Amino acid sequence: MTHHPTRNVHVGELPCHLDGRWLALDEARVPVLDRGFMFGDGIYEVVPVYRRRLFRFDEHMLRLERSLTAVRIPNPHGRDAWLALMRELVERVAEAGGGDEQLLYLQITRGVTPRVHGMPAGLKPTVFLMSTPHHPPGPEQRHRGASCITHADFRWSRGDIKSTSLLGNVMARQLAMDAGADETILLREMPHGGVTVSEGSSSNVWIVLEGALIGVPPSGHTLAGIRLELLQSLCEETGIACHLRPIGEAELYAADEILISSAGRELLPVTRLDGEPVGHGAGRGKPGPVYARLHEAYEQAKLEQSI
Ligand code: PDD
Repeated sequence: MTHHPTRNVHVGELPCHLDGRWLALDEARVPVLDRGFMFGDGIYEVVPVYRRRLFRFDEHMLRLERSLTAVRIPNPHGRDAWLALMRELVERVAEAGGGDEQLLYLQITRGVTPRVHGMPAGLKPTVFLMSTPHHPPGPEQRHRGASCITHADFRWSRGDIKSTSLLGNVMARQLAMDAGADETILLREMPHGGVTVSEGSSSNVWIVLEGALIGVPPSGHTLAGIRLELLQSLCEETGIACHLRPIGEAELYAADEILISSAGRELLPVTRLDGEPVGHGAGRGKPGPVYARLHEAYEQAKLEQSI
């Protein structure tokens, strides 16, 4: 296996896969009547690739199957065919100079049809896969941590579906960009009073209170991130108590540590919240000890759980 440096590679020149064809990303085209373009009527996944291997492939496939079922798009491939296709893409991208560390994106839309809101029967789904160079957060970024703002969650209540309709998430992320921050943590008013954390614009949110890691349980308001189960098992391995339960707004602000997790960002400490340093005492505004232990365990998992 040769290592190809990612420098000097134009992402648009890398190979991608569209409806059974291999072509350069810059050359891939879909018809304007594709329902992905018209309605955001599609499902996607983002799978990290380490050393040309797919990290937690089965978990991503399970979520893909759940999302497709929820929106009644037939799954165009069985798991083995997906694995073969994804592996071929990773190899092709690596050979084209995209590197051995990649972020694989796959999208399935309902297909092409004249514009009607209802779901026409019998459409052939559009299948698209690309894999681009992945640069997980390095030591400097992990030391600096992420800066987050908070905002009311104005999105729909089917955040459990990994849908390509991401306008709400895009708007939420831009609020962070506008504030010179990295991520927006969304807060939701509960029907019977109180405000709780839902998730980031493209990440799950965790807090550390009295040494225990607390994450938000899956519901219609959040995506069941692949790192939800992963972090629970890493906590078990490392002897950190871990609970999934609603996180109140006041707990977020009082937390000893705040973390965000996603395929691309892996696990990052949040060191500033709404402009204020996170945490207490000497560790204020710095990555905390629970983060440090979980980061180490995560690095190990990358080696052990990629196929
Ligand atoms: N986003 N919540 C939302 C809204 C997300 O978009 C993501 C990931 C997550 C974390 O899920 P996971 O651990 O499975 O990556 C939570 C992907 C990476 C994206 O849209 O690019």
